Amino acid sequence: MKKQALVALAALALSAPAFAAKGNAEAGKAKAEPCKACHGESGSSATPDFPRIGGQHADYLAVALRHYKLGKRKNPIMAGQVANLSEKDMLDLAAWYASQAGLAIKY
Ligand code: HEC
Repeated sequence: MKKQALVALAALALSAPAFAAKGNAEAGKAKAEPCKACHGESGSSATPDFPRIGGQHADYLAVALRHYKLGKRKNPIMAGQVANLSEKDMLDLAAWYASQAGLAIKY
C-alpha cells in the first residue's frame, strides 16, 4: 500500500470519533433533573402535552436539542430549556433518555 494511502487511512481513523460522539448516560441522568417536570421520571411523560423521549434514538434526541438551541426548531418552552446547555450536556442527556425504556406495543 502506498504511503499516501496509509496516511489517508490513519487520518480517517482518527477523525471517526468526531462523528460518533457519544454522551454519558450517567452524567445525563443528573442533568435531566429539570426535565422531569414535563417529560416524566425516565422520559415517559404522563400527558400528551409533552413528548415521550425515553427510548428514542440518542442521535434523534441530540439533534432535536441542538436544533432548539440553534433556533432551527422553534418552541419557546424547549428553547428556554436548552439555552444554557453545552454540546456535551445535550449528548449526555440524549444518552440518558436513549437508555430508558421506550414505548412498546401491547398485544
Ligand atoms: C416546561 C416543560 C418542559 C421541560 C422542563 C422540558 N421540556 Fe422538552 N419538551 C417540552 C415540550 C412542550 C416539547 C414539544 C416541543 C415541540 O413541539 O417542539 C418538548 C420537546 C422535547 C424534545 C423533542 C422530542 C421529539 O420527539 O422531537 C426533546 C428531545 C426534549 N424536549 C428534551 C428535553 C430535555 C433534555 C429537557 C431538560 C433539559 C427538557 N426537554 C425539558 C417541554 C419541556
